[in-house]
Amino acid sequence: MAYREIALEKALTFIEPGPVVLITTFDGKKNNVMTISWIMPIDFDGHFVIASGPWNLSFKTLLKTKQCVVCIPAENMLQTTVKIGDVSGAECDKFAHFGLKALPAKTVQAPLIAGCQACLECEVSDVISRYGFVVLHVKRIVRDSRLARGRLWHAVGDGTFTLDGKKSSCRQLMKDKLPPGL
Ligand SMILES: Cc1cc2nc3c(=O)[nH]c(=O)nc-3n(C[C@H](O)[C@H](O)[C@H](O)COP(=O)(O)O)c2cc1C
Repeated sequence: MAYREIALEKALTFIEPGPVVLITTFDGKKNNVMTISWIMPIDFDGHFVIASGPWNLSFKTLLKTKQCVVCIPAENMLQTTVKIGDVSGAECDKFAHFGLKALPAKTVQAPLIAGCQACLECEVSDVISRYGFVVLHVKRIVRDSRLARGRLWHAVGDGTFTLDGKKSSCRQLMKDKLPPGL
């Protein structure tokens, strides 16, 4: 099933749960991808923060190109997601090594990864160097309706991971806090 574009307002619903994500970059010659679990939304307008640092090739490429794609792994991608975060693109071509299929994005040069729940095309809107915070702004979202709304993986921080559990709706209680589109 192909990716289909969805409304930008939906960005928050992928980032607010704090899932483990894959972030792709393109340095002008080669695609690369890293794993990120330090991720947090900061407004309702599609801005969120990741924390990283110059020891990662992706961080340097992000600062240089000001673009990336944040991919939300499908449920069956945990092992690959962790392995991607255990090697640097400085040592190997991770797309080839992990058999990832790169698809063209529309608003950025970094690629989408086939088989994810959704991919958020992003531009870097700010960097807070002291903490390695990169503020990203979502420009376009595509999702695979077959896979999206699957469960998300979360890092515990000690090498273990949890999948989303029970879901409850408190939308009525929060209706004054929810902007249109959410
Ligand atoms: C589960 C997991 C979560 C990770 N989360 C982060 C993170 O939030 N920030 C970060 O800088 N690195 C994180 N990493 C490490 C990077 O993904 C790793 O250094 C990556 O291989 C960098 O690749 P690159 O040099 O090709 O950019 C994580 C790794 C794993 C396995």
